Amino acid sequence: MKNLNSSWRSPSNIALVKYWGKYDPQLPANPSLSFTLEESYTETKVEILDEEASEDFDFDVYLDYRKAEDFKPKIQKFFSRIEDELDFLRGRKFTIHTYNSFPHSSGIASSASGMSALALCLLSLSPSGAEMEEGEFFRKASEWSRLGSGSASRSLFGTLALWGKTEGIAESSDEYAIQYQGKIDPVFTSFRDTILLVEKGQKAVSSTAGHGLMNGHPFAQQRFAQAHDNMALLQKILANGDLDKFGNLVESEALTLHAMMMSSQPYFILMKPNTLQILESIWHFRKETQKPLFFTLDAGANVHLLYPESIEQEALDFVNSELKGHLKNGEYICDRVGSGPRKI
Ligand code: PMV
Repeated sequence: MKNLNSSWRSPSNIALVKYWGKYDPQLPANPSLSFTLEESYTETKVEILDEEASEDFDFDVYLDYRKAEDFKPKIQKFFSRIEDELDFLRGRKFTIHTYNSFPHSSGIASSASGMSALALCLLSLSPSGAEMEEGEFFRKASEWSRLGSGSASRSLFGTLALWGKTEGIAESSDEYAIQYQGKIDPVFTSFRDTILLVEKGQKAVSSTAGHGLMNGHPFAQQRFAQAHDNMALLQKILANGDLDKFGNLVESEALTLHAMMMSSQPYFILMKPNTLQILESIWHFRKETQKPLFFTLDAGANVHLLYPESIEQEALDFVNSELKGHLKNGEYICDRVGSGPRKI
């Protein structure tokens, strides 16, 4: 038998309406909608070797050609969730080689791009995946990605992806994400996301722990209801291109996410003083210039600066003159709305 392999590049994504709170098996407490990114991605190659396995899932993981033992537990956990579908891996040794386009431990979640790239490789290698037509293949890959990391389910589709049962969208599901099929004003298809790296490295509280704290959270039900309302509102905004309303909704979602963390028991804060300095500068810039420059946050201290392509130069000038001093080593990543995964 010869070695079999599959390689995929899969992007990260940034949620506009946030997923925060889940129940078993990794199902979302509310629907979410995200921009797919282009420049922040993971490339993964899974190779099944012509060597007999000595244990059930017998593999080595490499990040940038170096063994990454610390990645193994999360991957093992993922395998255990889909083990019935991974029969083809049993009995053979395999390797996982992975590479991130963004700086290692930049604080950008690599789980969305990483888990979706891995799911795509595994599905390509599986006998059932090989027989699927394209739509079914990506839906299944999204379902597997979700079981690796919830937000990863949304990395499978270009432009905008929607995950979670949403009123008025019959194809939507808690099990997998779908490509957003509603009307999208062209301003959004070339939107920019400049990722401002406030802090690098491990977060103080993992997103798994954070999701868990939504169980029994005093404001959970109101928050989940608000997310449903915002999904409906955002669909209208995406169709009509109203940038002020877009910014208002997206910034409110980001701050609500962090407000949920601050009002959990135990409570915690992932924003840093520099995060707040940046938010104030953005509001000041907007007031002075009336330009459509907005922020969102994920579960960390970094800030995603969202704006239309038409103001890119002004936005980057603003970053370099006003925000750079608040960033770790002055670093930021220039990203934009992207077209989804690619087989390589
Ligand atoms: O996929 P997880 O478990 O890392 O959760 C991600 C949650 C947020 O990034 C905060 C929001 C989202 O919808 O991506």
